[in-house]
Amino acid sequence: MKTLLITGPSSGFGRSLAEEALQRGYQAALAARNPETVADLLSRYPETALAIRFDLTKTEDASRAVKETMARFGRLDALINNAGYGLLASLEETSDEQLARNLETNFTGPLRLIREVLPIMREQRGGQIVNLSAIAAYANHAGFAVYGGAKAALDAASDAIAQDVAPYGIKFTMVVPGPFRTDFIGRSLDHAPRMPAYEATVGKFGGFLEKMKGRQPGDPARAAKVMIDLLDAEKPPFRLLLGGYAHTIFAKKLASLDAEMKAWKDVGLPTDFPPGE
Ligand SMILES: NC(=O)c1ccc[n+]([C@@H]2O[C@H](COP(=O)([O-])OP(=O)(O)OC[C@H]3O[C@@H](n4cnc5c(N)ncnc54)[C@H](OP(=O)(O)O)[C@@H]3O)[C@@H](O)[C@H]2O)c1
Repeated sequence: MKTLLITGPSSGFGRSLAEEALQRGYQAALAARNPETVADLLSRYPETALAIRFDLTKTEDASRAVKETMARFGRLDALINNAGYGLLASLEETSDEQLARNLETNFTGPLRLIREVLPIMREQRGGQIVNLSAIAAYANHAGFAVYGGAKAALDAASDAIAQDVAPYGIKFTMVVPGPFRTDFIGRSLDHAPRMPAYEATVGKFGGFLEKMKGRQPGDPARAAKVMIDLLDAEKPPFRLLLGGYAHTIFAKKLASLDAEMKAWKDVGLPTDFPPGE
């Protein structure tokens, strides 16, 4: 029976992931800031669900969460780094506290958890790490500098770590959703006081998000099924785009990157030493 550690199981993707995993018979350690939010899952699945008090911004919580998972289940097959939140603000509007907390939650905290599970997975000679990224990491919007930056950093770090540990059979997947109907555009979207200078850019994107609230095209339950299916895939992808929005935006970005590289190739290419030098 597979054992998973899932962060952020109180709502949205995390809640759907926890339900899907437990319903399929997996053992699931649910790492939540408030374990009360998963009390119903513990009563429905007393043998296979474990609640762990966990906050990504508390450095000591990562090792405790992994220790508690191992103490209860004795193994750990997959870590799902799901918990995270957005910050809608231009860089000038962003306070130091907002910057630090967002990076800690979306980048440093997930890395700490990965570091804790690696020795276990190396020893087992296998395991899977699934990180929730965001389309903003690959094609960003005005107002998502810190949030998209943190997710992009997690992508780049995971790319390297996946190579570090490839000989041990540890697989990585960055899940890349567009807008999904969760609490993200709501209680999980931090804001800063808006400067008039950023109304036309950051304010406009904020208006777009507000209009989309409650009508996001993505269904977290369908996404959770796909993510849990990944745990049985022989060769899971390094990046998995979720939903039509992410596919459209990512394809546009790929095309524009390709066009820009070709348009500037003659400028950038001849900067190597000539052959033989
Ligand atoms: N929904 C989307 O459109 C979308 C798109 C792209 C990426 N994502 C990513 O998907 C992931 C899940 O978000 P969601 O959309 O499901 O939103 P959500 O329903 O608001 O869930 C966010 C979860 O993260 C937890 N969390 C936030 N800060 C935390 C911290 N410091 N320590 C531990 N847990 C923390 C929340 O716990 P509390 O209940 O304690 O607040 C909650 O369980 C995030 O990483 C998000 O960036 C979402």
